[in-house]
Amino acid sequence: MNQKHQDVNATSSEKHIHTDFTNNMTYGEYLNLDKILSAQNRLSGHHDEMLFIVIHQVSELWMKLILHETQAAIKSIESDELSTAQKRLARVSKTQSQIIQAWDVLSTMTPSEYMEFRDSLGQASGFQSYQYRMIEFALGYKTDHVLKIYQKDPELHKTLTQAFEAKSLYDVAIAALHRAGLHIDEEILNRDVTKTYQDHESVRLAWMEVYRNTDKYWELYELAEKLIDLEDWLQQWRFRHMKTVERVIGFKMGTGGSSGVGYLKKVLDQRFFPELWAIRTEL
Ligand code: HEM
Repeated sequence: MNQKHQDVNATSSEKHIHTDFTNNMTYGEYLNLDKILSAQNRLSGHHDEMLFIVIHQVSELWMKLILHETQAAIKSIESDELSTAQKRLARVSKTQSQIIQAWDVLSTMTPSEYMEFRDSLGQASGFQSYQYRMIEFALGYKTDHVLKIYQKDPELHKTLTQAFEAKSLYDVAIAALHRAGLHIDEEILNRDVTKTYQDHESVRLAWMEVYRNTDKYWELYELAEKLIDLEDWLQQWRFRHMKTVERVIGFKMGTGGSSGVGYLKKVLDQRFFPELWAIRTEL
């Protein structure tokens, strides 16, 4: 086919493309792209700061989706709609795998490049990521630094307090075990949910029962595997973060004031759903 024919075909098949948007919403307007794409403010003006900003913003956007889906999954479990919850959690895991991939892009930044603009960050650090803390809260890991950090913003502080005081995904999953007729001690059912969840014998025995009778407890069994997926991916994110940080700043202190890699290694030991890991040795 000669060049002239190709052009004629393209024009005739695309003659319905809309170009008059005087009274209609565009793609850019729908997505508020003016706001999103004008929010990459390089304080140092250094070339590589763009990558640093974009990777954080992209991660925060994915975290927004993770929270949205996790909070919806909590509601679904509370109303015993376990297959809906599983669908939402499957989406969370896929999203987590996207954030993990983002480390490959960030790893193209060398220590020399980062040191060119690190001072512009001041004390700002991912440690202050309130969406990340809200995800941890939703999974049952409750630390309160973020509540202190955002005291200066009353509306955000209120949202964070509500998230801190809410039942976690694991709390509602345990209550679902109880409703399914499995024994769970009262002290766990009525626990103070502002405290980080600690493993409990009655919960371990209940999950054992589920894994030994998968036909009888199929939906709870599937839910448990979704929880394991979530924790597995979150730990992989933590590990890639720690290794990327070591690659870029070695063992320097973090801009947030922690020991840096040492701190990030320590949080790797924290478990969200301890019994679901423990029973794997016994089964
Ligand atoms: C060169 C890139 C990065 C470096 C050098 C870095 C460094 C650090 C360090 C040292 C900490 C510990 C707290 C502190 O003292 O600051 C930290 C925490 C954190 N960072 Fe990063 N980070 C980088 C990229 C990212 C990215 C892309 C994200 C994505 C949102 C992120 C999210 C977080 C979060 C959520 C924490 C809190 C972790 C926890 O407390 O368990 N970081 N980062």
